Amino acid sequence: MLSKRLLEISKLIDSNKVVYDVGSDHALLPCFLVKNNICPKVYASDNKIGPYNRAIENIKKYQLEGKVIPVLAEGIEDIRDDVDIITICGMGFYTIEHILEGKNLTKYDKIIVQINKDNELLRDFINKHKYYIIDEEVIFDGFYYELVVFSAKEEREYSPLEIKYGPILLKKKSEMFIKYLNYRKDKLEEIYLRSKNEKILKEIKEIDSILLD
Ligand SMILES: C[S@@+](CC[C@H](N)C(=O)[O-])C[C@H]1O[C@@H](n2cnc3c(N)ncnc32)[C@H](O)[C@@H]1O
Repeated sequence: MLSKRLLEISKLIDSNKVVYDVGSDHALLPCFLVKNNICPKVYASDNKIGPYNRAIENIKKYQLEGKVIPVLAEGIEDIRDDVDIITICGMGFYTIEHILEGKNLTKYDKIIVQINKDNELLRDFINKHKYYIIDEEVIFDGFYYELVVFSAKEEREYSPLEIKYGPILLKKKSEMFIKYLNYRKDKLEEIYLRSKNEKILKEIKEIDSILLD
């Protein structure tokens, strides 16, 4: 029922919390969370009628009416008062920036974001707002994905290296993160062979120093 990517995201959600899934499309993550008794209630929100209708179909299919609540709304404009955790997955950074910019996020326990690329821009956005990164994971589901969990309840500042690679990822140095760094390094080496660009070489050396640390 759930892709490996969404399954890994579900593991970051604490039990008994109310979740608001932005850009839910098919509502598969909300349905999984409720069906598996992780959450008592999840909002499946989307700003387009097609995905909203797909969510309603799945809610009916899994008989989760009243527990998975479909919402047709832009971003978090219509977010409900009982929400503890926001998930925003499978969208581009600029859409997510548009959804979160100027919003008061201090009441939420966690905001879980999964974008397909531009995680450095995401962490730069987090840093600019002095938000606090609670957790990070790298997963592989056909592609490498970074999952970033942050909160606006505490203030933090991050170094350029942490913004680029992830403060928690650098600290945890999981096996998957090492694989991901080697993958990034291989790609950069291919580019360097063609371009002999000094900036690329600097980045390769930067990754080497993280791997050797
Ligand atoms: C690629 S799907 C991702 C579905 C699911 N979250 C996942 O990760 O598999 C992106 C969904 O986000 C919705 N979306 C895009 N921009 C949005 C916005 N500003 N507010 C709410 N939903 C949005 C789209 O309509 C689409 O259904």
